[in-house]
Amino acid sequence: MTTTVLVTGGTGRLGRALVPRLAGSGHRVRVLTRSERRPAEWEWAVGDLRTGRGVTEAVAGTQAVIHLATTNGRGDVAATRTLVDAARAEGGPHLVYVSIVGIENVALGYYRVKLACERLVEASGLPWTILRTTQFHDLITAACDAQRRLPVTLVPSGVSFQPIDVTEVADRLVAIVEAGPSARVPDLGGPSVRDAAELARVYLRAIGRRRAVWSVPIPGRAMRDYRAGNHLARERAVGRITFEEFVAGVARERSGR
Ligand SMILES: NC(=O)c1ccc[n+]([C@@H]2O[C@H](COP(=O)([O-])OP(=O)(O)OC[C@H]3O[C@@H](n4cnc5c(N)ncnc54)[C@H](OP(=O)(O)O)[C@@H]3O)[C@@H](O)[C@H]2O)c1
Repeated sequence: MTTTVLVTGGTGRLGRALVPRLAGSGHRVRVLTRSERRPAEWEWAVGDLRTGRGVTEAVAGTQAVIHLATTNGRGDVAATRTLVDAARAEGGPHLVYVSIVGIENVALGYYRVKLACERLVEASGLPWTILRTTQFHDLITAACDAQRRLPVTLVPSGVSFQPIDVTEVADRLVAIVEAGPSARVPDLGGPSVRDAAELARVYLRAIGRRRAVWSVPIPGRAMRDYRAGNHLARERAVGRITFEEFVAGVARERSGR
């Protein structure tokens, strides 16, 4: 059945993988964004979840809303509430929320915000699904890129990640829209748990950036929780695309091949 699906955050890392997949599966796709975009195969709704501008119009006529938008900050709770209120007034589309593995066990402000957003979705009165995933491959490479002007790349010692490819998260989200409201679904983890320093070296080697990688001890509760692996989904290592495959794609793209 064709459904009209609103994607918030459809211009972000995950959203850019999701939107073409949804459209390719026969859904009518609308993307909420704060700035005007060029016309494409899908509709653009200009709006802002922080101010509420354009949100009612964006939700109108939808059967599903996939909420990916994030500002990485406290404003996400109010933004999610604005979206929930608009969806409720619209008659109750299926609300799908993407969250992060282990958020109740890592003492990070952003994770507390994600947990509060999950609670809002669960209590919204809307039909809902929450999918938690581990960190995306791109997050690891972005952390390295942010240090490109430094003579070395620093990573937290004793910390591992289990990164997953956004295309696999996107495929799962398409399946969720098609399955209908499913409450909390099983977590999605990347194919393997890897030491942060090793991931950084794999990436730097693939893109030909010559840098030493230094593991540095970082104090604090959040890092202790990361060292304990509370953000990992070892039992749910269902992703298949490896970090090596992902960075090989990044290297090809950068060299124009
Ligand atoms: N990155 C990870 O490793 C990871 C892991 C697990 C779960 N997640 C979750 O997955 C989701 C997507 O993450 P991502 O990394 O793909 O995000 P991202 O690349 O940081 O993109 C953020 C998106 O939010 C939109 N946005 C920001 N402020 C907005 C506002 N006020 N109103 C409307 N839209 C707004 C942006 O759209 P415009 O700029 O076009 O307005 C953009 O598309 C997030 O909920 C994140 O918590 C991420």
